[in-house]
Amino acid sequence: MRLALHHLVLIALLLLASGGIAPASAGGRWKLLQSSVGVSGMHMQLLHNDRVILFDRTNFGPSNLTFPAGHPCRVNQQDLFQPKGDCTAHSVEYSVASNTYRALSVVTDTWCSGGHVRPDDGALVQNGGWRDGVRKVRVMPACGDTSCDWTEQAAPEVLAADRWYPTNQNLPDGRAIVVGGLNQFTYEFLPKSAGPAATFALPFLSQTNSLYPFVHLNIDGNLFIFANNRAILFDYRTGTVVRTYATLGNGGDLRNNPNAGSSVLLPLKPNPTEAEVLICGGTPASSNSAVARGVFPPALSTCGRLRITDANPSWVVEEMPSPRVMGDMITLPNGEVAIINGATDGTAGWESANTASLAPVVYRADRPLGSRFEEQRPAGTPRPRMYHASALLLRDGRVLVGGSNPHHFYNFTNVKFPTELSLEAFSPDYLDSSNANLRPNIVDPSPRNGPVDVKYGGQLQLLFSVPAGLPVVDGVPVASVAMVAPSFTTHSFAQNQRHMFLQVVVGKADLRPIGGAQVPNNVYVATVTMPATSVLAPPGYYMMFVNNGRIPSGGIWIRITQ
Ligand SMILES: *[C@@H]1O[C@H](CO)[C@@H](O)[C@H](O)[C@H]1NC(C)=O
Ligand SMILES: *[C@@H]1O[C@H](CO)[C@@H](O)[C@H](O)[C@H]1NC(C)=O
Repeated sequence: MRLALHHLVLIALLLLASGGIAPASAGGRWKLLQSSVGVSGMHMQLLHNDRVILFDRTNFGPSNLTFPAGHPCRVNQQDLFQPKGDCTAHSVEYSVASNTYRALSVVTDTWCSGGHVRPDDGALVQNGGWRDGVRKVRVMPACGDTSCDWTEQAAPEVLAADRWYPTNQNLPDGRAIVVGGLNQFTYEFLPKSAGPAATFALPFLSQTNSLYPFVHLNIDGNLFIFANNRAILFDYRTGTVVRTYATLGNGGDLRNNPNAGSSVLLPLKPNPTEAEVLICGGTPASSNSAVARGVFPPALSTCGRLRITDANPSWVVEEMPSPRVMGDMITLPNGEVAIINGATDGTAGWESANTASLAPVVYRADRPLGSRFEEQRPAGTPRPRMYHASALLLRDGRVLVGGSNPHHFYNFTNVKFPTELSLEAFSPDYLDSSNANLRPNIVDPSPRNGPVDVKYGGQLQLLFSVPAGLPVVDGVPVASVAMVAPSFTTHSFAQNQRHMFLQVVVGKADLRPIGGAQVPNNVYVATVTMPATSVLAPPGYYMMFVNNGRIPSGGIWIRITQ
């Protein structure tokens, strides 16, 4: 590959920049980004403009963020506490690059809703909630300036059924499926198709628990759906249960809301023929009545891992280093899973847990059974992230955490866990400066530019440098490339999270000096083959990373279409 002069200039700038990173303590670190953004981050989504949309519920009185002068106040006669007008925001747009935020306007109640990113323009589509919000569909664009805000759709672009606690999943055909919600044993699709609004029966939810079921798109196009301690493989196109999986545990341990374990589709291999799900934490069923009596039993320390593509798989049960409820499981660029936030006792709910779980745990799926979990000891002091907290992966490899409000209102005094309006970043140890020489830096396509368009089965070339060079096996430099869908995270489940390793051929870049320019060492070209079908990767926006072993690059945005 012959490289133009601007590549060489870019590389020189990058090499200079990477020498200037301040030293950090080993083992990762916490950073308080904002002590208050004025709104508690119950729900969070990263968009491809590198801004995080976060929101809380709307109808419990003022937040701590007053709208700027001139911004219209929210007037909603359905509001429980301020029907005549509320001049505070209940949603915020946070810019990762500038570490700033601005107030956004939502009108109807967004409490315990679902969401996904729309594949065509990358807007956040968010649906459901409570009371007047229970059938709403709201759209927040990924704009380039600060002029955009939420719009709330009018009929017929609303849900066909009431959905409080629904789960969304992007589908191969570009739609999203919306599953469940309180007393809602059905599913439906967004955008609405022409004709009468339709819901489709899902009796499994009435046999289990329809609150935020764990939903993952399997590589055969069916949905893996887990609730309580049971799971099915479901063909949503025909409404049939394709497979009923074994029950996880002995019947007494529950995993989805309000027992609030978490679930993740483990990173898919290139051209995958198998897929696995990992579900961690939760509580014994008896914890729900115990917390009502002021007793906080230990949460579950077990995880279940299941090869969902097998005809009759068994759960492999593994032990975390400590119990956890209300944890978030976030896949990292290198394929490891961070388990972060939550408590070691109690359940999800107001005033329902007593001990924060402060140490993140990293799970390494490819290691031998018994050596997969590692408790992290990052520098710094994190804040407790109890009920109504959330977490997501940022493009720079950090995990953003926000929210935590185990109270009906914003309560800052006389409570053990004050309402958290802060945002923090957890930097895993791969971001320590001791790893700087190992870190790949993607040069082209430039991480500073917008999403790169790619096609199913198409190829994308990434030019990247690694200061210390890549390891070489059989004469070939070794690196991996992954694409990761940004999640809509709330209530301990990252909706739409998906991590795929891609087929890649890596070679040294053949750089020719231009004029007197010095040719930098250790520059590589990765030729990446995109997933073959939209069943493997639903269309839309993803982050793409290069990994040198465990050490990831910063990501670029891509958009995959037919
Ligand atoms: C939020 O506002 C309340 C009432 O004005 C104030 O007491 C509290 O300190 C504020 N909290 C934060 C974290 O900004
Ligand atoms: C939170 O504050 C509200 C009033 O703002 C109060 O009624 C409620 O009792 C407080 N909750 C707790 C748990 O202290």
